[in-house]
Amino acid sequence: MGYVGQPLAFAAHESGFSVIGFDIDPARVSALNEGRSTIRTIPDAKVSTMLHDGRFHASANLSEVAEADAILICVPTPLSKNREPDLTHVRRSAKAIGEMLRPDQLVCLESTTYPGCTQEIVKPALEASGLKVGTDIFLAYSPEREDPGSKFRTSEIPKIVGADDENSRVLAEAFYGRLVNKIVPVANSRTAEAVKLSENIFRCVNIALVNELKHIFARMEIDVWEVIDAAATKPFGFMPFYPGPGLGGHCIPVDPFYLSWKAREYDFATRFIELAGEVNTAMPYHVVEAIATALNDRKKPLHGSRVLVLGVAYKKDVDDLRESPTLKIMQLLGERGVRLDYNDPHFPELQKMRHYNFAGMRSVDLSPSNVASYDCVVIATDHTSYDYAAIVESAQLVVDTRNATRRLIRHRNKIVLC
Ligand SMILES: NC(=O)c1ccc[n+]([C@@H]2O[C@H](COP(=O)([O-])OP(=O)(O)OC[C@H]3O[C@@H](n4cnc5c(N)ncnc54)[C@H](O)[C@@H]3O)[C@@H](O)[C@H]2O)c1
Repeated sequence: MGYVGQPLAFAAHESGFSVIGFDIDPARVSALNEGRSTIRTIPDAKVSTMLHDGRFHASANLSEVAEADAILICVPTPLSKNREPDLTHVRRSAKAIGEMLRPDQLVCLESTTYPGCTQEIVKPALEASGLKVGTDIFLAYSPEREDPGSKFRTSEIPKIVGADDENSRVLAEAFYGRLVNKIVPVANSRTAEAVKLSENIFRCVNIALVNELKHIFARMEIDVWEVIDAAATKPFGFMPFYPGPGLGGHCIPVDPFYLSWKAREYDFATRFIELAGEVNTAMPYHVVEAIATALNDRKKPLHGSRVLVLGVAYKKDVDDLRESPTLKIMQLLGERGVRLDYNDPHFPELQKMRHYNFAGMRSVDLSPSNVASYDCVVIATDHTSYDYAAIVESAQLVVDTRNATRRLIRHRNKIVLC
């Protein structure tokens, strides 16, 4: 019942199904059963509406799996320390479901993963029950295409569906056909897994490309954002991607490496993916250099300067900071002796994370006097709620990684775009 599971549960409920929202996190289960959404982009009212008509409840009790006709797995698929697929959650849930299965149930994996995972990991775990996929139980892969905070409802986003036997295919298509307006059946589960990875690799590579263009055009004193906006007026053959401080979120920085890893089994080096990873990983370092240069131009050293970072979420208007490049920027600034603060309306306080420890740091206020007290304000994430004119008016120096200040021409002398 995370970023993917909750919208999916709502879509299933809206289509008339009774839904059990299963999660191993008891706090999440309690919140949902009390009518509280745990995701900012999903209003509490939506959860309460579902609860009140009696066709939804959340549960941490896996034995309820036996009640379900369709079981959708939307668990995390991160990378290990060595940047290899960490399928612990998929393995664990497939094993646990396998122990509870009864005949005629349909199981669909939604988590992003490498081509072959449904067949190689989920199928054997389910068949350990003694039930056979394709005759007793049914299995499909259908990747989630959720975009938190976007204008698209889950039901409006076409859904890829792939299965490896006829019965599973018919059932999965019938099920998802009720949930969304359009399904896109593909040859098998491996193809469906490959579709999802291709979508994310496409974004990752194109973001790396514009990040590289940004560096080239900066040297040529050409505004990369103006270039992209003008190029985007071409009605065919160009799709705009925008540069930024680096990649963030659970998908784009992580998923491409699922394919790189699997490709090694086929003696294949995924050079585009590696190169894109290299360019995108370098972006937070580039931002820190830009801050150092901007301060240096004002005769200030990075060490000892007070810097305020705006936005820790990985993209605007979301309450998700997984893999956020802001965290890397903050870590690098801290290592170089910067006296650091942050503001983010979605994160009043930071907790200890897997790779970073900013525990106890609290979001500071954006009063004019406070903003003016920093040597530099860095716009890392361009939340819509920020009053950029007021921030720039008060700030001594602004380093803008998102072109959020594009309209504030008269303050150009104190804004550095990077
Ligand atoms: N967030 C997105 O925008 C997005 C978009 C498309 C695809 N995906 C993919 O969907 C998958 C889930 O991502 P997410 O963002 O929803 O993750 P998330 O961390 O928001 O949610 C995952 C949930 O699964 C729960 N969980 C973990 N192990 C479990 C288990 N064994 N049984 C039951 N629940 C368990 C966790 O407690 C958590 O609530 C990932 O593979 C991700 O790559 C995410």
